[in-house]
Amino acid sequence: MIVNFYERYQPKEQLGFMEDALLADFLSTDGKYTNLLKKHWKQSLGIEELLFTPSATAALELAVQLLALAPGDEVIIPSYTFPSAANAVMKCGGTPVLCDVDLMTKNISLEAAASKITKRTKAIIPTHYAGISCNMDQLMTLAGDHQLGVIEDAAQAVHSLYADKPLGTIGDFGAYSFHHTKNFSCGEGGAFLCKDPSYMDQGEIIRDNGTNKAQFYKQKLSDYSWQCAGSNYMMSGACAALLYAQLLDYEVITEKRKAVFDAYHEILTASAQQLEGKVSLMNVPGYSTPNYHIYYINCNDSETRDALRNGLLADGIDVRTHFIPLHLSDFGRAMGYSAMDLPNCFSVYATLLRLPIHTEMTRTDCEIVTDFLMKRVREIE
Ligand SMILES: Cc1ncc(COP(=O)(O)O)c(C=O)c1O
Repeated sequence: MIVNFYERYQPKEQLGFMEDALLADFLSTDGKYTNLLKKHWKQSLGIEELLFTPSATAALELAVQLLALAPGDEVIIPSYTFPSAANAVMKCGGTPVLCDVDLMTKNISLEAAASKITKRTKAIIPTHYAGISCNMDQLMTLAGDHQLGVIEDAAQAVHSLYADKPLGTIGDFGAYSFHHTKNFSCGEGGAFLCKDPSYMDQGEIIRDNGTNKAQFYKQKLSDYSWQCAGSNYMMSGACAALLYAQLLDYEVITEKRKAVFDAYHEILTASAQQLEGKVSLMNVPGYSTPNYHIYYINCNDSETRDALRNGLLADGIDVRTHFIPLHLSDFGRAMGYSAMDLPNCFSVYATLLRLPIHTEMTRTDCEIVTDFLMKRVREIE
C-alpha cells in the first residue's frame, strides 16, 4: 500500500513503562499503571471513577448487567454499530431492538428511537460513530421522559466532547475501547465509566467474577467470597503500562489526526466541483468536538462507492467500508429484520467509504489520497 489505513502511534516511553511494569509491578489489574491512568483521566477530563477492562465489549457487558434486565426487557440500539452492545443485552436476557440512524451523523435517530419505545424498554445504548457525538441533551431528555437508562457506547469516542462534556461521562454508564485500531491503544483494552459512583462497588464485584475481592484488597474485609454472577473483566498491568504511554501523548495524537482530517476536508471542499455530485463530505455538528477517529466520504450510490473502493485499493490507497448493519447480518435477519426496515442504516452501509487516517500521515499523504480519489471520481460515468 502507498498509504496504510492505520498505523499505531508508538510513544517513546512505552518500552520503559512496559519493562517497569514487568519487573516491578503487580501484573494483574489495579497496580501502578492503573493508578497512573486514573490520575490521567482525573486531570484531563475530570473523571475519577472508572474501571479498566479487557475491552469495550467487557465494559458494555458490565454496564448492561447493572441494568438488571428481566427476560423480555428491551434495549434500543442503532443497527449501524458493532455487535458488542446487542450481544451484551442478549447475554443478560434482554432483547436488543434495532433502530435506524440519522443520515448526517450516522448516529442513532432520536425520532426512530422514540418510535421504538414500549412498556418493556429499559435503556438506550447510543454509539458515537466516528467519535462524533450524538445530540446528548436531546437523547438524555428522551431517556428521562421514559425513565430509561443510557449506556454510551463511546468505544470510538475516547477524548471526544459533546459541547464541553467528555463522551462516555454523560449517560448513566459509558464504555471506551483501547483496541489496536482505536486512537489510544494497548492491543486489547477498555474502560467502564459510571455517573453515579454508588454503582462502582457493584461494578467491581461483577468485574471480579462476582466476588468482593476488591473490598478485601482495600482491607475493608478479612476475606472475600462469591456475591453474584460476574466475569473476569480486568485489564492486565502490561496493557495499562502501554496505554499510559499513549495517553500521556493524547494531545499530540489528537493534533496529528486533526491535521489529517482538516487536510482532507480542506482539499476536498476546494475540489467540490470535481466531485461532481458523486461524493459528499462528512459533516460534524456544532455540538460535537470529535477525536478525529474516522474520516469518511458519502458516495451517491453503492456502485459509485464500490468503484471508488476497488479503484483506490488498486492504486495502493487502503480505503475501507464499515459496519454491516446488525439488522442486515445473518443473525439480524434470523431475528426477523429485513433490509428496508431501517433504510438509513442500509444507505450508510452501501455508500460510506473510510479514508486512511493515522498519526504517521503527512500533508503529502493526504494529497496523494485525494489526488487518486479525484482521478477515480472522474472515471465514473
Ligand atoms: C462502536 C463500537 N462498539 C464496541 C466495539 C468493541 O470494542 P472492543 O474491541 O474494545 O471490545 C467497537 C470496536 O470496534 C466499536 O466500534
